[in-house]
Amino acid sequence: MHGARRGQGEHKLRGVSARDRDGDAVRLHVVTGKGGTGKTTVASSLALALAAGGRTVLLVEVEGRQGVAQVFGSRPLPYAERPIAEAAEGGRVCALAADAEAALLEYLEMFYGMRRAGQVLTRFGAVDFATTIAPGMRDVLLTGKATEAVRRRSGDRRRGGREAGGGRYVYDAVVMDAPPTGRIAQFLNVNAEVAGLARVGPIRNHADKVMDTIRSAQTAVHFVTVLEEMPAQETLDGIAEIRSAGLNVGSLIVNMVRPPFFAEPVLQAVAEGSFDTGALVRGLKAAGLEDAEDTARGLAAEVGDHALRVAGESEIRERLAGVDRPHLELPLLGAGVGPGQLHDLAARLREQGL
Ligand SMILES: Nc1ncnc2c1ncn2[C@@H]1O[C@H](COP(=O)(O)OP(=O)(O)O)[C@@H](O)[C@H]1O
Ligand SMILES: [Mg+2]
Repeated sequence: MHGARRGQGEHKLRGVSARDRDGDAVRLHVVTGKGGTGKTTVASSLALALAAGGRTVLLVEVEGRQGVAQVFGSRPLPYAERPIAEAAEGGRVCALAADAEAALLEYLEMFYGMRRAGQVLTRFGAVDFATTIAPGMRDVLLTGKATEAVRRRSGDRRRGGREAGGGRYVYDAVVMDAPPTGRIAQFLNVNAEVAGLARVGPIRNHADKVMDTIRSAQTAVHFVTVLEEMPAQETLDGIAEIRSAGLNVGSLIVNMVRPPFFAEPVLQAVAEGSFDTGALVRGLKAAGLEDAEDTARGLAAEVGDHALRVAGESEIRERLAGVDRPHLELPLLGAGVGPGQLHDLAARLREQGL
């Protein structure tokens, strides 16, 4: 068709959004999801998965909750990039708890050599003032920190904010444990946020530069959900919002997946009301159980609840199936998630072709 081979990759996406992109080009992985669905857990596992095989990945937390430190079982993170875990086959994950005030001081120093002035401003509460009066300012500082890490190369002269170093990227990838689905589009769309704030000048330039990276094929937004109504709906809404802001959607990660306890025919029988409780009673009696009748009734009720849950989950799966992006799944880990389990989850992500 018109002899054009360009854009074929995009056609493969069946027109969902010409901007969504896969694979190796992505260096900034933004992880969002409804609160409690496992954003921090998934972002941490993703960082480990991406670091495997000798790469260096920065995991950035922007919500100031020290969730990353907690899940890695480390002490609270400072505003500094610190190694936090070794990944499989020689990789390394560094972590950073970004906070807007520290980022503003760093920004003033980088662009104006104004560290001391910044400290004076802090003492007078001017930083709080700046970031409170203009919430967009807070966001652009946080996203600015992450995008700077994405662009950073060894040998960069950091003063003046110029990226003059021609060396290798310092980080092979940056993973952001981002705000929840309800706020993600606004958070990333800093350009629109600071539009009313600064039309020209350094803030404008900074915002433009941040936006260049966020809008590029280097950035993808991954959505974490569980198989429940609300998180799934927020995911679908969030994906639509991210796309309409012109940003790339990465993968859909379904977390805390529970395997069905019973085989399909059993669940089917329950759904059709033809589950044979009598057979269960006979079986339990044959096994020598005393109160076989009561036990059977109790069990039948549990099987019923379970079948209902499984049916509900498959309905949600069907709705999510409409998302034409890679779907990855992580199991519900019975004993919770500690540092060791993060490695297991990372391995699962890699198995699924992350
Ligand atoms: N796959 C999983 N299996 C078991 N527990 C999980 C899993 N993913 C997350 N959790 C647990 O769920 C809770 C919420 O996870 P977290 O990553 O903090 O969510 P969020 O950052 O979205 O609020 C934590 O206690 C975490 O350990
Ligand atoms: Mg969290």
